[in-house]
Amino acid sequence: MAEKFDVKLSEKYYMPDPSYKQNSWLGDYQKAYNDFLKDPDGFWDRVAQELHWFTPYTKVKEWNYPYARWFTGGKTNITYNCLDRNVANGRRNKVALIWRGEDGTERIYTYRQLYREVQRVANGLKKLGVTKGDRVCIYMPMVPEQIISMLACARIGAVHSVVFGGFGAAALNSRINGAEAKVVITADVTYRRGKSIPYKRVIEEAIINAPSVEYVVVLRRELDQPVEIHSEMEVDFYDLIKDVSQECEPAVMDSEDPLFILYTSGSTGAPKGIVHTCGGYMVGTYYTTKYVFDIKENDVYWCTADPGWITGHSYVVYGPLAMGATIIMTEGTPDFPDPSIWWRMVEEFGVTILYTAPTAIRMFMKLGEEWPNKCNLSTLRILGSVGEPLNPEAFEWYYRVIGKKSCPIVDTWWQTETGMQMVTTMVGEPMIPGFAGKGIPGVIADVVNKEGKPVKPGTGGFLVIREPWPSMLRTVYKDDERYRKYWNTIPGCYAVGDLAVKNAAGYIMVLGRADDLIVVAGHNIGTAEVESALVSHQAVAEAAVIGKPDAMKGNIIKAFVILRLTHSPSDRLKKELLYHVRITLGPIAMPSEIEFVQSLPKTRSGKIMRRVLKAKELGMDPGDISTLEE
Ligand code: WT7
Repeated sequence: MAEKFDVKLSEKYYMPDPSYKQNSWLGDYQKAYNDFLKDPDGFWDRVAQELHWFTPYTKVKEWNYPYARWFTGGKTNITYNCLDRNVANGRRNKVALIWRGEDGTERIYTYRQLYREVQRVANGLKKLGVTKGDRVCIYMPMVPEQIISMLACARIGAVHSVVFGGFGAAALNSRINGAEAKVVITADVTYRRGKSIPYKRVIEEAIINAPSVEYVVVLRRELDQPVEIHSEMEVDFYDLIKDVSQECEPAVMDSEDPLFILYTSGSTGAPKGIVHTCGGYMVGTYYTTKYVFDIKENDVYWCTADPGWITGHSYVVYGPLAMGATIIMTEGTPDFPDPSIWWRMVEEFGVTILYTAPTAIRMFMKLGEEWPNKCNLSTLRILGSVGEPLNPEAFEWYYRVIGKKSCPIVDTWWQTETGMQMVTTMVGEPMIPGFAGKGIPGVIADVVNKEGKPVKPGTGGFLVIREPWPSMLRTVYKDDERYRKYWNTIPGCYAVGDLAVKNAAGYIMVLGRADDLIVVAGHNIGTAEVESALVSHQAVAEAAVIGKPDAMKGNIIKAFVILRLTHSPSDRLKKELLYHVRITLGPIAMPSEIEFVQSLPKTRSGKIMRRVLKAKELGMDPGDISTLEE
């Protein structure tokens, strides 16, 4: 790939090999985008026609601001498209899922085997009295049964609410009660760094005051020391599916029937139960998986996310399986038993598409290139990133060390609420480090001021989406008021809550959450920008920045910095870092204080919780910290 400097773009950019564009599903981005703009409904209709509908929809979209309905009248089942269709269409013996445990154990499911297992678990759930519309909470480690349980719910029309396994009892209890789950599916333990971590014990505590729960299904993994099954409420996973049929007809779901609820933290208050529906979510995730990752029949696709997050829902489970892809899943941590484990997996399984988070990339940067360099990564052809801004330094490292300067990087911006990827640089298009890219065909993304007017290139503003899209959230479970807020904050737009800036070529750089904005002496400064500047110094592994109230300036900037192992803290280094920010970002963005730290408070999805840092700094209550890791 060529490295170029372009006057129009005014940034350094990378041009992928032309073969990527020639061979992609998308072809020319601009042409695809124009096709969409000319006839948005026709565009989505063509995508939806690639999937199976029991009864065809009569309308592609009905839009009554701020409520959208997609593929109305259509009847389908997402598992039919993920399983039956692939089994029938020549992928019966294709590998659907390769799972690898921390100790190296492998379990492999072909499409036929996965299909069979899903139907058995679906029949098991039916035995417990679960019917269409009932909510089932899934609190499981990253094992095949986690995916199978999700699909089993969808098979019978039950609404799953997956809770990430790292959440504690109180967070779990509020999510179970929020969704009024009838059944909870869990496991005895997960394995982490060679130790077993209990799950069932957390559930036992979490269901004490959860009146909706009738059964807890327990997957027992520790066969030497099986946990006790308390028969009043609990059911053994294997017992449940022992004598059931391998066939379970898919429930006929209306497009607009709910498929799942997924809780996500709001900037204030209780977590929000984001509701996604069957038809639109299916079309949106299928479409983006196909076009953004450009998945082909022989790809080996690995998204490292836990299905407990939206990334796992959309890009471990539903999108890739609807595409009939081979997916990889691992329960292990990226640096155990040593930091080469991921790269050995890429080599062993011949991974071609890797989708991960900037926080993981920066961790590997810190640990050193020698680990990936030991492995043969030549099968990789496309790299992806999601969850937070991929700062230019992390981009360059990912591009050079992992992609060997020949893999396009798709930095995908989206949210739990959007269900699918929204902004990225499509494979084959020029990539600009630090910029996610443009709206994918089907999505109208813009950067605007408070009134909803587009801001000039180079001026910061609010990232918004202008028109409804198929996989948008339909409501916040039992709190529609909070749903309407997304559409009522900025006139005519869906306000995503992020700050962004566009360049002259229309590429969008996401700066971070609007609530992470620091106003210093009347100037808006995005924490992400300052952090990115700090991280671009060779001594810095990771940085987090907060605003501290100041009588003179309104706020001053305080930075918390983790150094690379090759450097140690000193006053001299602090001065160097200040100088570096001054030169790269300008004096206005210079921190007033720098503190060297060993770790930063993060959510389990890897986002730095600046709020927690700030509360600690100011001696205040940090508020809800249920999403804090460890
Ligand atoms: C928020 C949504 C989307 C799945 C994982 C997170 C941030 C996400 C990017 C990106 C910059 C990003 C935004 C967004 N974000 N992807 N590529 N570049 N920021 O889902 O927990 O719902 O968080 O994550 O701030 O609003 P989520």
